[in-house]
Amino acid sequence: MTRVVDARLTVDGTARELPIERSTIGNDGMSVSTLLKDTGLVTVDPGFMNTASCESAITYIDGDAGILKYRGYPIEQLAENSTFLEVAYLLIHGELPTEDLLAAFNNRVSRHMHVHEGIKTFLGAFPRDAHPMAVLSGAISALSTFYPESVGNSEEELELATVLLLAKSATVISYLQRRASGGELIEPRRGGHYVDEFMRICFSGADGELDVDPVMRKALDLLLILHADHEQNCSTSTVRIVGSSQANIYASVAAGVGALSGPLHGGANEAALRMFDQIKESGDSVETFVAKVKDRVEGARLMGFGHRVYKSYDPRGAQVKKIANQILSDLGGNNETFEMAQRLEEIALSDEYFIERKLYPNVDFYTGLLYSAMGFDTPMFTPLFALGRMPGWIAHYREMLADPRTKIGRPRQIYTGETDRAYTPIAER
Ligand code: ACO
Repeated sequence: MTRVVDARLTVDGTARELPIERSTIGNDGMSVSTLLKDTGLVTVDPGFMNTASCESAITYIDGDAGILKYRGYPIEQLAENSTFLEVAYLLIHGELPTEDLLAAFNNRVSRHMHVHEGIKTFLGAFPRDAHPMAVLSGAISALSTFYPESVGNSEEELELATVLLLAKSATVISYLQRRASGGELIEPRRGGHYVDEFMRICFSGADGELDVDPVMRKALDLLLILHADHEQNCSTSTVRIVGSSQANIYASVAAGVGALSGPLHGGANEAALRMFDQIKESGDSVETFVAKVKDRVEGARLMGFGHRVYKSYDPRGAQVKKIANQILSDLGGNNETFEMAQRLEEIALSDEYFIERKLYPNVDFYTGLLYSAMGFDTPMFTPLFALGRMPGWIAHYREMLADPRTKIGRPRQIYTGETDRAYTPIAER
């Protein structure tokens, strides 16, 4: 990547130097913070297409080359060798843990998986058919009221909140999976493997026993790793901006859950599976559906395709497809849908519309199929994404808080409304 030496902006004939901020790899940045004071101009960038909101040392993405690294480690190596809690530790603390550190982290998370009786009552009060993302956001926000000793900005408080968020969100999500079919919360046991225990409390019978299938456990561990962070995406930026007001970590992460629930973000895995079902139900061929997408019929969109940053294959999508191939053929999962998804991908990847726009399958194109093969209900897909993204949100919140340059997030606007009107009494309108 070429390095820019300097940047100059001419406004009304007067040139101004804009300081360049250097990255270790990737795009450098041109600082525009003083432009308003110097020129009276604000910068305009809807959707923050070209705005770096912070410095970060957590995750690096090269969207053109399809590269994703956590703390410098390629996602492919982590996917192959690591576990979700190890990756969580890496993202949050910056280094891979030693065996002892990982065991201690594991134990601490495991010890905190049980939830307060009040939380059970609170969860039970939501309508049974409530979307689990709404309940999850409420539950995470409520954690601050049940565990006030973890609310604050000291290292100890942040470390405790980190453990509580990882531990208790898993239990809340397991309950949401059980509750939809009338089940009760299964009490977590101490000392187990995080993903094993999560699967047990999701899927065991009333006796609390489950032989976790090691292939499924490995697949779920992998999916959580692949979702663990993705730099300044919509939900993570939400966490940072809410936290920039010094709102506590629970309020900030709960807001992130809200952002993730949208179909253009985390909701895409659910939307992709629904799309596959709709194609089947409509009797349309895959070709007809692709033609509708291209003609924008009723806003038809190929869910699970396209990405703001990746303009070549999403490296996470590649990992998910690999494991989907293994699992769905080994376990006789939802093969008809998998075949349809593969066909859809094949057609789209050879179609000029998608090629021109650099639209490739993203991580969500195949994840729903895997979650479904594991036994999760469709509305649970986005909460599972949230469970995976938890370490990323926590790492960014903590990085934001520790950064002396953090200021409260407060964008500007270009005002386009009325300029001057006199109040009209209601009787005269
Ligand atoms: N299907 C059909 N056309 C698409 C798609 C798609 N999935 N995605 C983008 N396009 C088209 C747009 O219509 C636009 O075409 P135009 O230039 O002719 O108007 C062009 O490609 C550029 O698209 P934008 O919407 O401008 O791209 P943006 O970067 O703003 O959006 C996004 C990225 C939101 C992910 C988009 O690709 C999308 O809606 N995808 C489907 C939803 C999805 O899968 N989201 C998950 C993202 S990954 C994640 O959150 C984990």
